[in-house]
Amino acid sequence: MKRQITLDINDQPYELTVENRTRLLDAVRYAAGLTGTKEGCSTGDCGACTVLMDGAPITSCLTLAVAAEGKKLTTIEGIGADGTLHPVQESFMELGGLQCGICTPGMILSSVALLEDNPQPTADEARWTLAGNLCRCTGYDKIIKAVLQAAEVQETAAS
Ligand code: FES
Ligand code: FES
Repeated sequence: MKRQITLDINDQPYELTVENRTRLLDAVRYAAGLTGTKEGCSTGDCGACTVLMDGAPITSCLTLAVAAEGKKLTTIEGIGADGTLHPVQESFMELGGLQCGICTPGMILSSVALLEDNPQPTADEARWTLAGNLCRCTGYDKIIKAVLQAAEVQETAAS
């Protein structure tokens, strides 16, 4: 059965027509047209489909779109400001924390949420937090270095 819902994505209201069973991933990618969110495993294991719901990372392949009504959603398109990249995005680019890019939006959103909760994580804390985001390309070291560099950049900017 189709129904109309309104999702708050990146501080914009999106009026969408979805089925009761529509995954949030599909609502974001195909109904809202925000294709930065990626699909990998479709089973909640890889983290490629990660978005933030009220600031917390969730797997959008395992979340129903109708369950996201009334929540504040953030996708990779929503974390920069005024045409500039987020410090986490800058660090991933600068340190080579990405190759094919499939895992990258999810990695970055999980990292942004980590730095909100823990602005100066250790490498082990970053690895633990990103354990749910799988990367088949980079070997992870550059990703962790990018997260720690972004933490430094944000701290310097805040001081
Ligand atoms: S596509 Fe959702 S966790 Fe892999
Ligand atoms: S950059 Fe290819 S999966 Fe991570």
